[in-house]
Amino acid sequence: MVKIGQIKLKNPVMVASGTFGYGIECKDLVDLDKLGAIITKTITLKPRLGNPQPRTFELPYGMINTIGLQNVGLEKFLTEKLPELIKITKTPVIVSIAGEKESEYSEVAKILDKENIAGIEMNISCPNVKGSIISKCKTDTYNVVKSVRKKTKHTLIVKLSPDVTDILEIAKSTESAGADAVSLINTVPALFYKNGNTILGGLSGPCIKHIALRKVYEVAKFLKIPVIGIGGIMNIEDTLEFFKAGAKAIQVGTGNFIDPKIPIKIINGLSFKKMSF
Ligand SMILES: Cc1cc2nc3c(=O)[nH]c(=O)nc-3n(C[C@H](O)[C@H](O)[C@H](O)COP(=O)(O)O)c2cc1C
Repeated sequence: MVKIGQIKLKNPVMVASGTFGYGIECKDLVDLDKLGAIITKTITLKPRLGNPQPRTFELPYGMINTIGLQNVGLEKFLTEKLPELIKITKTPVIVSIAGEKESEYSEVAKILDKENIAGIEMNISCPNVKGSIISKCKTDTYNVVKSVRKKTKHTLIVKLSPDVTDILEIAKSTESAGADAVSLINTVPALFYKNGNTILGGLSGPCIKHIALRKVYEVAKFLKIPVIGIGGIMNIEDTLEFFKAGAKAIQVGTGNFIDPKIPIKIINGLSFKKMSF
């Protein structure tokens, strides 16, 4: 058992936001009850169409995406997606949220506070939307986490970007503002030329694993709250490296597009190794 804030996870393996839909789409592919937790696609107060297609590009060593936080919006999420997900699984559901400004984050958090969810993951680090990335500034990070903390009793996880000058000062701001855990890393800002077009997007998959490991290692040594490792995790060996670096739990992202059973294979591998949490 692993504890992240008040969430008791039966195992430390979660599915990363944006790579597992709203969970319900994957119910025939994966035994949802086996997962440690499900992090749903980031939602915003109002629906978002995201960026124009094409928005995902496969690379030999990972992928680049420019989705731009497409989502159904909070209302539809609460009436259509969340009730169905909660009906079909007992696995803790952590809802990923984002907003254009601090007040949007806190409004979404306030509404979610009445819902039967395990926690909130604040996505303050998406590189694929217009405007500044909150997690690049320690003051903005502190302020937005503090205002969400005031609105929610749910476990609060804050997701960070690796694309900052000093990850420790940003991580510290989340802890000081009342976060229960940090998750890192979000995708790495990158450029890709496709048929003469310049694609600016977020890089993910095995090519970012060693960047993620380094950030997890540094942050885990520095903070008191738990760190959740994300970035290029494809198998049990990757997972064990993240634990060695100090992660208390992990999330599988791009791996779900290659084989949605990767998280389950990792969970089986951990129990084979008789790892207790
Ligand atoms: C297609 C795609 C969509 C994503 N959408 C989201 C999202 O909505 N919210 C979020 O916090 N992260 C999102 N991410 C980032 C992942 O959750 C994860 O942090 C990142 O991809 C690094 O992990 P990985 O290398 O295992 O994919 C997305 C990643 C991909 C590839």
